[in-house]
Amino acid sequence: MSKIKTHYQCQSCGAKFNRWMGRCSSCGDWNTLTEEKIQDAGKLGEAAKLTLTQSAPIQLNEVSGGEEYRILTADEELNRVLGGGIVPGSLVLLGGEPGIGKSTLLLQTARQLPMPVWYVSGEESARQIKMRADRLPSQDNQVVLFTETELNRLLRQLKEALPPLVIIDSIQTLYDAEIESAPGSVSQIRHCAAMLMRLAKEEGIALFLVGHITKEGALAGPKILEHMVDTVLQFEGERHHAYRLLRTLKNRFGSTAELGIYQMQTDGLHGVNNPSAFLLTPAHRRQSGTAIAASLEGNRPMLIEIQVLVSRAAYGTPQRSATGFDNRRLNMLLAVLEKRLGIQLSTMDIFLNVTGGLKTDDPAVDLAVCVATLSSFYDKAMPDKTCFAAEVGLGGELRPVSRVDMREQESKRLGFNYLIKARDFVEDNGSKSAFETLSELTERLFGSNS
Ligand code: TYD
Ligand code: MG
Repeated sequence: MSKIKTHYQCQSCGAKFNRWMGRCSSCGDWNTLTEEKIQDAGKLGEAAKLTLTQSAPIQLNEVSGGEEYRILTADEELNRVLGGGIVPGSLVLLGGEPGIGKSTLLLQTARQLPMPVWYVSGEESARQIKMRADRLPSQDNQVVLFTETELNRLLRQLKEALPPLVIIDSIQTLYDAEIESAPGSVSQIRHCAAMLMRLAKEEGIALFLVGHITKEGALAGPKILEHMVDTVLQFEGERHHAYRLLRTLKNRFGSTAELGIYQMQTDGLHGVNNPSAFLLTPAHRRQSGTAIAASLEGNRPMLIEIQVLVSRAAYGTPQRSATGFDNRRLNMLLAVLEKRLGIQLSTMDIFLNVTGGLKTDDPAVDLAVCVATLSSFYDKAMPDKTCFAAEVGLGGELRPVSRVDMREQESKRLGFNYLIKARDFVEDNGSKSAFETLSELTERLFGSNS
């Protein structure tokens, strides 16, 4: 008999303890410790023996290599976020909320690849997967479905078939029968991922792991895998909007500044190669309270529409609420508007919305947020063909942002003549659309009202 140890493990941060506590002393979360039984690592049995091989030290310059070979998928957005395609033997974690489209993305990618791809699902039956697949555009494909959830049986089959690409949907449904904790618990997830990784690295199998993540990013089963895998992709967007953003959070084989944009349609996910055009309301329908920001999402310049509604608060404390933009940042910008422009917002309800269900954290959006607020406050629409890109400081000063040239190009391409930005004192070229402070710009935009 192998020795069985017990410990209590936090399901949120993965910290281990010898005794149970109501609150994890490592991350501070309540009620997250569960009892987990784990066998000695040395006695993990079959699965471990299956993948154990010897390795020897080797001179770095004797290692063959150079340009890494990549599997190119038919999906340009996915190739881009992966840094130019799938690297054989690499481990990719695809995280996102349930229902966002992870299974759809991977299944449609698998069907378009001219090589055997194993789609291992513990979430849906083969019939359900087939029904989903039938919605997607049909392609010649060599997808093998496998609805196995026990790790050792899965490893055995993979060892035999050695497919070049394996998709595990999801890592939370996989379990090793030799470990006593429930599927989806921290120790199962960590162990299953480690065993799969070993096989993948030894046999050069590329592996996609799907992981469900809740809205708060908590219940971080898959989060504990982030340091183990080569690439972490995050699929985000509002479930009721058609747009989905695929972000690279970590990539050993490329930049983390990449972004893929998709639209969910009745026949699967479609890459969007002209996102700005999709995201903007036509100019003649834009009302007061709207400003266009020339933002940069990852490496991609993108025009996004900021809408703000300022209205007199009916009851006591005024409401402040932002969708797609950081609430605290909104509060800060409102305080700057009050203090530096002297306008009274403290009795107003203020709602902000980034259209299309996008989320942005580009500081260059600050100025559009301020302008949209003022536009709603004075009930005056902004001139069309004008967009904004500058960070706003606490003193009400406009601060230059990165890659203004790229933002300018994108705005020109979409028919915007003016990009309002911060005056850059280093490279001052006397541009008429560059301003030093919010009040200088407000004077120009709202002159007679303010
Ligand atoms: P799914 O890929 O199952 O999400 P996840 O694996 O991240 O949980 O996506 C499910 C949603 O996508 C579901 O609400 C239905 C919708 N959908 C479409 O709109 N069009 C399609 O072609 C498919 C396959 C799904
Ligand atoms: Mg799914």
